[in-house]
Amino acid sequence: MVENTKKEIITAVELAKKQREISVSEFFTKNRHLLGFDNPRKALLTTIKEAVDNSLDACEEAKILPDIYVEVTQKAEDRFLVIVQDNGPGIVKEQIPKIFAKLLYGSKFHTMKQSRGQQGIGISAAGMYGQLTTGKPIRITSRISPKKPTHYYELNINTQKNEPDIIKETEIEWLTEHGTKIEIELEAKYQKGKQSVDEYLKQTAIANPHIKVAYKNPEGQVIEFPRATKELPVEPKEIKPHPHGIELGILIKMLRMTKSKNLGSFLTSDFSRVSPAVAKLICDKAKVDIKSKPERIPTQEADNLLKAIRETKIMAPQTNCLSPIGEDLIIKGLKKEINAEFYAATTRPPSVYRGNPFQIEVGLAYGGEAQTTPDDEKDDLIRVIRFANRVPLLYQQGACATNKAIVTTAWKNYGLSQSRGALPSGPVILMIHMVSVWVPFTSESKEAIAHYPEILKEMKLALQEVGRKLAGHIRKTVKAIQQTERINLFEKYIPELATAIAQLSETDKKTIQTNLDATLHKNLKELIKNGESQS
Ligand SMILES: Nc1ncnc2c1ncn2[C@@H]1O[C@H](COP(=O)(O)OP(=O)(O)OP(=O)(O)O)[C@@H](O)[C@H]1O
Ligand SMILES: [Mg+2]
Repeated sequence: MVENTKKEIITAVELAKKQREISVSEFFTKNRHLLGFDNPRKALLTTIKEAVDNSLDACEEAKILPDIYVEVTQKAEDRFLVIVQDNGPGIVKEQIPKIFAKLLYGSKFHTMKQSRGQQGIGISAAGMYGQLTTGKPIRITSRISPKKPTHYYELNINTQKNEPDIIKETEIEWLTEHGTKIEIELEAKYQKGKQSVDEYLKQTAIANPHIKVAYKNPEGQVIEFPRATKELPVEPKEIKPHPHGIELGILIKMLRMTKSKNLGSFLTSDFSRVSPAVAKLICDKAKVDIKSKPERIPTQEADNLLKAIRETKIMAPQTNCLSPIGEDLIIKGLKKEINAEFYAATTRPPSVYRGNPFQIEVGLAYGGEAQTTPDDEKDDLIRVIRFANRVPLLYQQGACATNKAIVTTAWKNYGLSQSRGALPSGPVILMIHMVSVWVPFTSESKEAIAHYPEILKEMKLALQEVGRKLAGHIRKTVKAIQQTERINLFEKYIPELATAIAQLSETDKKTIQTNLDATLHKNLKELIKNGESQS
């Protein structure tokens, strides 16, 4: 027994020597796949995606119509230079090093507001990946006004400390009045097709009809994505958390950090939808004094508070904080990038999961170019394009809630064939979009949406709405085809019929044929008209 205890102490001391803090940068250096840098092809896409998403967020926050330039140049067989430049508000000098060379530093994590970025990792992770694979620092040029100088920085991340190392810092001449340009050299692979940079930009143009993008690819081609509207999306509003979405750890943190002097004002001012009457109800139920100082509330009382919150009826969160694309602009965006035969869209009313407001929209393009599947896909299944807060999601389709919603919808009802548990078949590009103040991604690389029942339900309702519109169109076209076939059949027999009648009635065959033709077409026109008004 004594022998054993001695051994245990020695082991604990040995282990203690190895126990130390892990910096977030070291963690993500080892786990780069969690951030979307698991292979060179994906690394190129993720880098551009993080930079472009940030540019669009910044422009929209500053109410500037985004004008983005993206360039990818091949430097060596497996090495590329990425340049992304925007006409956004620019970045204040002091903030530049931390934004680009410190993980978990950003303006969006603590706010409940619909935006593309949410974690504060994106762009610094891209810079860190470039630094790890090429040894080159990230280069930033930024200016906040024509009256202010342009700052140029070269930055590395000190991964042990998760702090920026400034390699170069200077003022330069720049023709741009305001905006930001980033340059990252990285190990990468360029390839067109389904999960490419080209596809990401095309899909971004569909979901963001208000942006203009010029893209120079490594082959030197310049691809322009024009604007379809000059109107910026409605600005999403920032909201406070809804009490029903809160977890104990967060409640305790909020109690410690609040500026409110007592529990009552904490509940009414740090949360949405809590009136003084509701606050009193919660406190009474939890048997905690409404006048208590929030930072003094012990964990057990916080737990009681949480239980009381969950048992109290509270008005649902306000949903005017969301900014969906809208049915008209979804169709405009699809028309701009896909030349199809029929388009439909639907935007569902807002709903709530875990206290977070969200909204689902679905768009659909049928026939025409929607028929051509990208080269790497040989099947005739529909193509799905997924978006979260207007950002295309190109990886992990199978793990995404959108996929489950699509395969569990009965597409046979809407004129498409479908095998059990599979995507339906047909010449369709199906767009599905979720907007929320917090999109529940399954990982930090923001590729797939988690399977919350409320989200799945809304997705299915949106798919059904669009499905019904598609069914109407298919019915109409099928009918039109059947009617044309019928006309052709009649036409084939008219000469024979005319000969027979001419012989019987001793009338001129030509006159009979002309009359029969005229009657047929008149009647068929009526038929088609009736068919259309029925469907
Ligand atoms: N082009 C830009 N113009 C203006 N501000 C920017 C630009 N790029 C980044 N920022 C600022 O830098 C912050 C950090 O960006 P970063 O991409 O690391 O995180 P994020 O966008 O907040 O979240 P995510 O990790 O989900 O992308 C942003 O929150 C934003 O405030
Ligand atoms: Mg970002």
